[in-house]
Amino acid sequence: MPDEQCPTKAVLLPFYKKYLGLKHLDVGVGTGFFISRAGLTSSHQVGLLDLNENCLRAAAAQVKQAKVRTFRRDLMQPSSEPADTGYDSISLFHVLHCLPGTMDDKETAIANLKRYLSKTGVLYGVTILGDEAGHNPIGRRLLKVYNDKGIMHNLGDTLDDLQRMLRRQFQNVEVRRHNKVALFVVRD
Ligand SMILES: C[S@@+](CC[C@H](N)C(=O)[O-])C[C@H]1O[C@@H](n2cnc3c(N)ncnc32)[C@H](O)[C@@H]1O
Repeated sequence: MPDEQCPTKAVLLPFYKKYLGLKHLDVGVGTGFFISRAGLTSSHQVGLLDLNENCLRAAAAQVKQAKVRTFRRDLMQPSSEPADTGYDSISLFHVLHCLPGTMDDKETAIANLKRYLSKTGVLYGVTILGDEAGHNPIGRRLLKVYNDKGIMHNLGDTLDDLQRMLRRQFQNVEVRRHNKVALFVVRD
């Protein structure tokens, strides 16, 4: 779903860079689009976490400036072994809408990631909302096709449910909406 009216250059990339800490974990790396444009320096330590080995390889190849470790993990496995700990920041961009189940089911992923954060660390991300976001006819069609194919699982995802779920895990929760996309920043 291209950009979903939440522009990458004007909104998403600045948001990604704003919360990036020196020890950063990028979760659901895709091709490494965001981490490769994050302005990393040799002082950064980067972890890359994904279910898919090809994604990890592609993203790791994009990170030239910083030390990188990769972790092949399924976020939805409650007992998954920590992908290192003490991260200053964890990014979760365009991943929640891919995870199966309801927003409550997706809490497993957030609880897993919480264990990897430092005490003062921040978890932030973006996810495409479901039907309630009022997608245009093309957007609705794409949403349905992707959900039918199992590429996305977000038809029922709402801003309120996201906020409630994050509040069960974190004390400080900021959630805002930019068109059809929810942006969130959470910490304890
Ligand atoms: C839509 S891509 C997002 C890529 C990138 N973050 C971006 O915003 O362009 C979703 C990524 O999440 C990963 N992913 C999906 N389900 C996962 C799971 N259960 N555990 C770990 N990674 C998962 C996919 O392999 C893919 O790399």
